[in-house]
Amino acid sequence: MISKRVEKIPPSGIREFFDLVLSKPNIISLGVGEPDFIAPWRVRERAITALEEGFTSYTSNKGLKILRRTIASYLKKKYGLSYNPENEILITVGVSQGLDLALRTIIDPQDKVVVVSPHYVAYPALVELNLGKVVFLETTSQEGFKVNSKELHRILKKEKPKAIILNYPSNPTGVTYSKEELKKIWSVLSKEDVVVISDEIYGEIVYREPHIPLASLKGAKSKVILLNGFSKGWAMTEFRIGYACGPKKIIEGMTKIHSFNMLCAPIISQIAGDEALKCRGEVDAMVKEYRRRRDFIVKELNRIGLATVKPEGAFYCFPSLKKYKMDSLEFAKRLLLEEKVAVVPGKAFGASYQGFIRISYANSLENLKEAIIRIERFLKNCGS
Ligand SMILES: Cc1ncc(COP(=O)(O)O)c(C=O)c1O
Repeated sequence: MISKRVEKIPPSGIREFFDLVLSKPNIISLGVGEPDFIAPWRVRERAITALEEGFTSYTSNKGLKILRRTIASYLKKKYGLSYNPENEILITVGVSQGLDLALRTIIDPQDKVVVVSPHYVAYPALVELNLGKVVFLETTSQEGFKVNSKELHRILKKEKPKAIILNYPSNPTGVTYSKEELKKIWSVLSKEDVVVISDEIYGEIVYREPHIPLASLKGAKSKVILLNGFSKGWAMTEFRIGYACGPKKIIEGMTKIHSFNMLCAPIISQIAGDEALKCRGEVDAMVKEYRRRRDFIVKELNRIGLATVKPEGAFYCFPSLKKYKMDSLEFAKRLLLEEKVAVVPGKAFGASYQGFIRISYANSLENLKEAIIRIERFLKNCGS
């Protein structure tokens, strides 16, 4: 009864695994990709009062003008990026919807879309659901999971893709790019006829250098769709609110689809998003705590033989199982059954990443310490 297109898409590797996790008590979960904090109080309070004030209607398709204006001034102040709130910004139901709208707007059947791997689980599925063809650009731990410009150039020349999806800081590696590195990537992209979908949802969570939106590089704005939202930086996952910024024509196309399949993002979430952009201190406090956990977990994982590239953003790391010569699914299943620690097998993020696991450190330091004790014990038992 269902289309071949839908039948072909495998279920998310993460969800499959987490159904198993949810069925077990006393698990330490290093699996879920969401903040363990709750949204700042002033955001929740604003949402409550908005409801009390009776905000229960649709908004304009593009989203509330006040939110689009606040986003425009936020991007201008923080990154020097100028977007016209009238026609270059669309409020979406999370980056998830932004991604789908961007792909629907720019690709025709059989158009190729480059996905940098290891990748967020939704990218290949969304490309295929939109009848595009995925071309993977694989990165390696040896190169710190960063895009190799020569390889990028080779793939763009050979495959002639319509679009490329970039994501930094990255889910699942936590890797991000300095301005110099981004410039190198952009110098390759700028020479080709390709639209860049830049998923910067973790842009608020960076540890060393400030986040640089790709669109802020000279000449980039006209070819980049910037996707961002409130789920990660403000711990607002369940508000389901995000935004897309880009060239007027693309945003118009995305808005057209959005007006038919969603009408608009929920008004309470839009009002909450507007409030969120005023919460700097709360975001900084969360980032400070993520950094403390990052420092702990990366040091400990390397100590116990799970070689880990140091992440400079998001709340993930992607350790290698090479030393223990184990397949990641077997590793994750046994670790869950024997020590009650949940991690995500690397295969969920690309076929070549069987030898890795994703660890989310969006969990208390206390739990992370206990998890390391359990993982170390598990590895000793594996070795003996
Ligand atoms: C890279 C990436 N993009 C997008 C999303 C979804 O974001 P949203 O909650 O805004 O739909 C996630 C969620 O895990 C993600 O990791």
